[in-house]
Amino acid sequence: MESLLSVQSRAPFTSPKEMSFEYFKYKGVNFSHGSYTSEALSFAENFFEVLDDDVYIVTYPKSGTNWMIEILSLLRTKGDPTWCNSLPIWLRSPWYETIEGQSQIKDVASPWVLTSHLPIHIFAKSFFTSKAKIIYVMRNPKDILVSLFYFSKMVCLYKDPKTFPEFFENFLQGNVLYSSWFDHVKGWMQIKDNSNFFFITYEELHGDLRNSVIKICDFLEKNLDDSQIDLVVKHSSFNAMKENKMSNYTLIPQDFMDQTKGSFLRKGVTGDWKNHFTVAQNEYFDEVYAEKMKDLFMEQF
Ligand code: A3P
Repeated sequence: MESLLSVQSRAPFTSPKEMSFEYFKYKGVNFSHGSYTSEALSFAENFFEVLDDDVYIVTYPKSGTNWMIEILSLLRTKGDPTWCNSLPIWLRSPWYETIEGQSQIKDVASPWVLTSHLPIHIFAKSFFTSKAKIIYVMRNPKDILVSLFYFSKMVCLYKDPKTFPEFFENFLQGNVLYSSWFDHVKGWMQIKDNSNFFFITYEELHGDLRNSVIKICDFLEKNLDDSQIDLVVKHSSFNAMKENKMSNYTLIPQDFMDQTKGSFLRKGVTGDWKNHFTVAQNEYFDEVYAEKMKDLFMEQF
């Protein structure tokens, strides 16, 4: 197993000492200095070579990205958790748009399962002429807002969210890392009917993980028997991931992710927004949602 030092030196994002807390824009989208540069983003968009066998997990942050990485890692090993228990999650499926991810990819065996939070207009151009597959995980944006509020307090990559009302407004305005949730979803939904695009929600995973895993297997053309599916479900549960130090982000040094301020695997539930939104905030959110999503037929959360 790798030493802790070597794991930490390849953490998924850059030291706060090298960072400024103002986001910069690349093609209209907010990114943090340190883990992103215009050059790395341009490489991801224009020059990254997507291979036909690749699978990409694409999400807006806090949608269940790491949950999907864990599921796909376990599918790869037919439910055997050894790989998940021995290699940090961010090295199993690097974020291909980050500086660190682009160097970590070199150590990942092909076919790749890579991760991205990029909106569609910045995603690798070569994907659109390939047979590679995307699994897009969407989550109730109200729960994302809450999850991101707590995550932003503990992670150096994100601006300090300050108060909940301030963060609430910033989220709705897209003044957060990766900018607007609405734009992200609307962009990716343009290709939702493509055969190499699989759409699933956090809520569906949460409601019936076993059936979700079976659907993912079908999409990826993976043949697992019932007992192997059971193992995938067992080892990708919230509690299993919380116990697994390779998946719970506790290996990340405090400077990057301050575990005294919260935990990455925070609650893992649906509907936590009800514990945080006032009635007025909820009505305001619904108004913004209805306006921004009016051209897209999508059930309101
Ligand atoms: P909460 O903060 O609401 O608990 P991402 O991986 O995109 O950053 O998403 C993180 C969110 O997914 C966190 O939400 C985290 O707890 C939740 N999550 C991660 N693994 C999970 C699992 N196995 N089951 C349920 N939720 C999970």
